[in-house]
Amino acid sequence: MTYIMAIDQGTTSSRAILFDAQMQRVGTAQREFTQHFPQEGWVEHDAEEIWDSVLTVCREVMESAGVSAAQIAGIGITNQRETSVIWDRVTGVPIHNAIVWQDRRTAKICERLRKAGCEDDVTAQTGLLLDPYFSGTKVKWLLDTVPGARDRAAAGELLFGTIDTFLIWRLTKGRVHATDATNAARTLLFDIHKGQWSSEICDLLDIPQALLPDVRDCAADFGSTSLFDGDIPILGVAGDQQAATIGQACFQPGMMKSTYGTGCFALLNTGAQQVESKNRLLTTIAYQLDGQKTYALEGSIFIAGAAVQWLRDALQIIEAAPQSGELAAQADPNQHVVLVPAFTGLGAPYWKPDCRGAIFGLTRNSGRAEITRATLESIAFQTRDLWHAMQGDWGAEADVTLRVDGGMSASDWAMQGLSDILGAPVDRPVMQETTALGAAWLAGMKAGVYPDQAGFAETWDLDRRFEPVKAEADRDAAYARWQRAVQATMAF
Ligand code: G3P
Repeated sequence: MTYIMAIDQGTTSSRAILFDAQMQRVGTAQREFTQHFPQEGWVEHDAEEIWDSVLTVCREVMESAGVSAAQIAGIGITNQRETSVIWDRVTGVPIHNAIVWQDRRTAKICERLRKAGCEDDVTAQTGLLLDPYFSGTKVKWLLDTVPGARDRAAAGELLFGTIDTFLIWRLTKGRVHATDATNAARTLLFDIHKGQWSSEICDLLDIPQALLPDVRDCAADFGSTSLFDGDIPILGVAGDQQAATIGQACFQPGMMKSTYGTGCFALLNTGAQQVESKNRLLTTIAYQLDGQKTYALEGSIFIAGAAVQWLRDALQIIEAAPQSGELAAQADPNQHVVLVPAFTGLGAPYWKPDCRGAIFGLTRNSGRAEITRATLESIAFQTRDLWHAMQGDWGAEADVTLRVDGGMSASDWAMQGLSDILGAPVDRPVMQETTALGAAWLAGMKAGVYPDQAGFAETWDLDRRFEPVKAEADRDAAYARWQRAVQATMAF
């Protein structure tokens, strides 16, 4: 038997998933790791802990499935994007904790650059905006702050990478310092049109190019690892949202997916066209295969599943995430509680890093059920914000079905609510492990084990389609309340 192993290194946990030759999942291992919050708005990960968790889950899944390295035709890596690590080229030791995508510490740097009139140029090259979300200003902060880092970087002693790059470097024992085009596209340092690092932006942020990895296709040779019981080639790499786009087989222009994890990320395939957003969405690389780039419009929401975790951990009004739909269904339909979950600022299309969350419309009868419903609805309203922005940028053709995945897509209540708030059908596939599957497919296709793009697209299977049932007037009134709540939150 031949297998493919996907490594899904996410924001809160690392997972290894084994797929057989028919792309069926045969085993999963998962490890959570520590989230560090050294200051308000700061989020860090210990890259060593991430590395240990990745090695552990890979070993665990191979052992529990009884699969040896010789049976694994390739590894596909997918990862939390933008999170930035700098490490010593010789010792491999990181110079600082990894700065996570959610971290807001560089808001001031972004603002300064915006005021200096740099944003248009940066957007034109990278498709991104000046927001602390992306890696570039995190790298600048590390070089500015860690003693001696800038000189060591200039002398070629340090290496930078998003998490994929760090894992590839460790897996290959320092032989390969590389990333793929989708991860490079999230750094704020990569010209997505020319397909190369931008000297202009590196100069602007004072980042020596010696730090930066080699950029490859998503299905390519990323070296091989001998850390298990034999050599395994690394053949696929994509940022997790791009891997989910691939796993959802959104290969045609106009196809769109939305993944509900910690945050929510909607990507609309725009084909070979790099659509410039007029609505504060991002232009990014969906995937690069055989040197050909396929672009996407992306809407990034920072808090989705994390809001449900907040119900569980901070408010303790549910014990486990799956209870949220059940409780929301019990909410009083005559109450209009609205939650704006701007816990780490607002992402697309508002981009307000300093804004914080708020609840509106509370009465003496508002309780657990109403707050839970407001939480689930806030995720749907945010998706509608993106949906509108995408339609504005892409035109009538954006009238497509949304393919959903990620933890929250398992909730029928949440997905029905999403369809109602969008006023559009929502499709949930049978295979919910789309991120891991996307990474596995890249590696398996490169290894010659899995079908080509068209063959893979045929394997996408519908579990359930949710159709809108809410009256249009109710939907619009609810959305208008949301819009007022967002404006009030931003003004606070
Ligand atoms: O851009 C951040 C994104 O890649 C994180 O995804 O699934 O780890 O929340 P996730």
